[in-house]
Amino acid sequence: MYSVVQIKIKRVIMDKFVINGGKPLEGEIEISGAKNEALPLTVASILTDDVSIISNISDLADLRSMISLLEVLGVKSEIKGNVLRIDPSGCDGYEAPYDLVRKMRASVYVLGALLGRLGRAKVSFPGGCVIGTRPIDLHLMGLEKLGARIKIEHGYIIADADKLVGTEIFLSGIHGPSVGATVNVMLAAVKAEGVTVIKEASCEPQITELADFLNSMGAKIEGAGTPVLIIHGVKELHGAKHEVIPDRIEAATYMIAGVITRGNLLIKNCIVKHLEAVIEKLREIGAEITYEDDGVRVKAKDPLKPVNIRTAPFPGFPTDVQPQIMSLLATVPGISVITEGVYPDRFIHVSELNRMGADIKVDNAVAVVKGVEKLSGAPVMASELRGGAGLVLAGLSAINQTVVSRVYHIDRGYESMEKKLANVGADIKRVSE
Ligand code: UD1
Repeated sequence: MYSVVQIKIKRVIMDKFVINGGKPLEGEIEISGAKNEALPLTVASILTDDVSIISNISDLADLRSMISLLEVLGVKSEIKGNVLRIDPSGCDGYEAPYDLVRKMRASVYVLGALLGRLGRAKVSFPGGCVIGTRPIDLHLMGLEKLGARIKIEHGYIIADADKLVGTEIFLSGIHGPSVGATVNVMLAAVKAEGVTVIKEASCEPQITELADFLNSMGAKIEGAGTPVLIIHGVKELHGAKHEVIPDRIEAATYMIAGVITRGNLLIKNCIVKHLEAVIEKLREIGAEITYEDDGVRVKAKDPLKPVNIRTAPFPGFPTDVQPQIMSLLATVPGISVITEGVYPDRFIHVSELNRMGADIKVDNAVAVVKGVEKLSGAPVMASELRGGAGLVLAGLSAINQTVVSRVYHIDRGYESMEKKLANVGADIKRVSE
């Protein structure tokens, strides 16, 4: 016997996309607000008691999870349309439980923000996930350097600080700068005493947006978008308004949807300078990409050419677009080589693509993709967000029917994916079992 809530959750978990592939996509797709920006901004809002307003948010499972987590800490939130109103005045909780943190690694951002707000935090250790081990050693090292005492007990990170004091912190790990560690240290450092200098900081667009938001709350951060961030601590922050920028990973995914179906799509509301690495590779593959007043047009016809790609931190080719471009290269005759420079184990989608007739071999962090003329539809399973998106793209190009199960992974980061694709001619339906 299931409760109503259990039935609802079970239904969402069992949703599938049924795709009849082989149709070139034509038309316009509007890009929604960036998931990876909305998450840190939402958490940053708790660094004051005032209300903040974040607009252009997307309706995404990850953002709802973050809002639920903040509610547990005493934060009140309200969403009207695509505007999120956050009232953190009652935020006096300091414990982020496992059940909420395990859903999404970005939950660990509350560690830095709670240290900044309350001087204490108890946050479940986020653990690994299917794209590989995902340590948080750099987050913890950065917070300790600011003066936090940290211990790990029973799966929780327990942190406290009498006061946080600015210092110099190198945040780079073996795979380059860490987005999450940069966010966490920024959130703790904005109200620390003195100056914090983060060297080898992440340069991803969401860091620049977070710095802009914090600065509009009264923080003093310089250098965002470069590897050196200088944060002059301030005593108080106040509420602010911010509009989330378009999601570059969503934009890249739909650009690739245009190419893999050999279609003609106008990707509206995207920021070209955030997509340069993807655009360059798509052009090398043979897609025609032009800039129009209201977006980027992507057209493709056979024959296309194989390419070699190495994923890297921004401005390099994003690891979050690796599964999608792999699906495309699986349909481009010739040999392409994809080297994963950020998450060496992020290849869980490969076995599913091979079930659709792709010919991909993985050795350590390198995938050799031998393109085939056509993929063939098959039942496949999404195991993570971007890998799931890659399987949908493969299904759009494949002959016959593909059924992608576990689309709840895809719902974490894509707003109404099936509707956006159906609007441009895809035969795709969400089916609940
Ligand atoms: C963020 C993105 C995610 C993206 C990733 C890389 C959000 C919410 N998520 O994740 O979509 O795939 O950036 O662009 O913005 N590392 C360590 N120690 C640490 C932290 C990270 O070694 O303490 C390593 C990771 O294992 C990885 C690399 O650093 O190899 C980059 O990870 P990181 O930038 O931290 O990714 P996330 O912030 O988790």
